[in-house]
Amino acid sequence: MTEMEAIRVRHSVRTYQSKKIEQEKVNQLKALIDEVNAAGNLHLQFMEDAGKSFRRILSKVMGLDSAPSVIACVGPDDDTLDERIGYYGEKIVLAAQCMGLNTCWAGTFNKSGVPAEIGDGERLVIVIAIGYGENQGKQRKSKTPEQVSYAKGTRPDWFDFGVEMALCAPTAINQQSFEIRLNEDGSVDFIDKGGPFSRVDLGIVKYHFTAGAAYKKNDGVS
Ligand SMILES: Cc1cc2nc3c(=O)[nH]c(=O)nc-3n(C[C@H](O)[C@H](O)[C@H](O)COP(=O)(O)O)c2cc1C
Repeated sequence: MTEMEAIRVRHSVRTYQSKKIEQEKVNQLKALIDEVNAAGNLHLQFMEDAGKSFRRILSKVMGLDSAPSVIACVGPDDDTLDERIGYYGEKIVLAAQCMGLNTCWAGTFNKSGVPAEIGDGERLVIVIAIGYGENQGKQRKSKTPEQVSYAKGTRPDWFDFGVEMALCAPTAINQQSFEIRLNEDGSVDFIDKGGPFSRVDLGIVKYHFTAGAAYKKNDGVS
C-alpha cells in the first residue's frame, strides 16, 4: 500500500485485538520514529505495552483501553510543539497503516499512566493508540473543499488534490477546523480556526496536504 492509498483508507480504530505487534514491525516503527525525532526535534516513543494510558472511564467507554501499544508524543516544549507532533506523528500513522496496523490519535488519556520518558523542558502532548484493529474503522462525515479552502483565481490540480487529501486527515472530534489558502504567488497558508488540539490537527492536515500536492506535481508517482 502506498502512502496515498493509506491516506484514503485510514480511519480511526478504537477496538483492538489482543495480538501484539510483531518484532519486525516494531523495529520498523522504531526506526521511523528515530528518523522523525531527528527531523522534527521530537522525543516520540513507541511503548510496546500501553500500560495504564487508557485506564480511565472515558477511554474505556471509547474502547481505547484495548490498544496493546501506544506512541507517546513528547518533545521539547515551545509554541511549535503541537504542530510538529501532528505533522511527524501522522507520518508514522500512515506508515503504520501501510504495515497493516491501525491507529487512533487520542487526546483523552491518562497522562500519569503513560510509561514514557519526559525530560526537563519536555511535554507529553498526546498519544497514538496502535495495534491490530478488530475492524478498519468507518467512513465519517467531512466538510467540503469549499468549506476549508480558498484560492484567488484558478485552482491548480495540485492544490485541489492537496485539499482533498487534507480532508481525509484525522482531526480532534472531527472538527476539521482549518483553512488552506492559495496565495497569488503560489504559496500556501494553513490557518488554525481553533478548537481542542487544533494545533496538532493543523500539523496533521499540513502533512496530508503536502503529500497530496507533491504527488500531483510529480505526475502521480509516489
Ligand atoms: C488531535 C486528535 C485528538 C483525538 N483525540 C481522540 C480521543 O481522545 N478519543 C477518540 O476516540 N478519538 C480521538 N481522535 C480521533 C478523532 O475523533 C477522529 O480522527 C475523527 O473523528 C475523524 O475520524 P477518522 O480519524 O476516522 O478520519 C483524535 C484525533 C485527533 C487528530
